[in-house]
Amino acid sequence: MNQKKITIAIDGFSACGKSTLAKDLAKRLAYVFIDSGAMYRAAALYCLKHQLIQDGKLDTVGIDNQLSQMDIHFETVSSESHILLNGQDVSNEIRESKVAEIVSIVAAYKPIREKLVQAQQEMGAKGGIVMDGRDIGSVVFPDAELKIFVTADPEIRVQRRLSEMVTKGMHTSIEEIRKNLAERDHLDSTREESPLIQVSDALVLDNSQLTKEEQLDWVLDKVALIVSN
Ligand code: DC
Repeated sequence: MNQKKITIAIDGFSACGKSTLAKDLAKRLAYVFIDSGAMYRAAALYCLKHQLIQDGKLDTVGIDNQLSQMDIHFETVSSESHILLNGQDVSNEIRESKVAEIVSIVAAYKPIREKLVQAQQEMGAKGGIVMDGRDIGSVVFPDAELKIFVTADPEIRVQRRLSEMVTKGMHTSIEEIRKNLAERDHLDSTREESPLIQVSDALVLDNSQLTKEEQLDWVLDKVALIVSN
């Protein structure tokens, strides 16, 4: 019997393990996985490459003129999702500090959000999708059958981001990560456009003390309840 394919929205602060959870969940359910943060990072990289960020400020006139030329999409290579910016695979480059430092500025700009939200809604139009980000349950898929808000202890998030960067051979310091996460938390939750909020119909998952498997089981239980109804 074909099971109902639902939409799963996962929101939360940076470095809470949302993408890992969303990816594992999508794999288990044979759903599409979309890391919406990767799209904002690719947009930020576009701005860097086109000198649209000066002194920590976005050149809004410049980006308005170029927005239609910025193409961001995903491709699956050897069952791994890669992100392409105007045809170039930028999956690794978007994780670098130079992008992390400015992404919140770019993600706060309404025309950029409108373009990316439209693309996200098109990708999820048929259901069977797990998307993680900041505004997925509030703006992108307000009717999602399952909404999860992930939280974790700030210091645990710092350690997780550090080991992720070390594993990828990227140079950074613990102080740099701590500062960047605190700044992004503040900007992402206080910006005017689609700030990160915990919507009232989201289930809260504090994963500070949970393994990846425990988190996955927790969500799979919720999915099973929804699809069996
Ligand atoms: O999840 P991440 O750290 O890769 O996200 C990168 C940035 O993009 C983050 O600072 C906030 C922004 N973002 C957003 O504004 N809306 C989303 N749906 C996803 C990410």
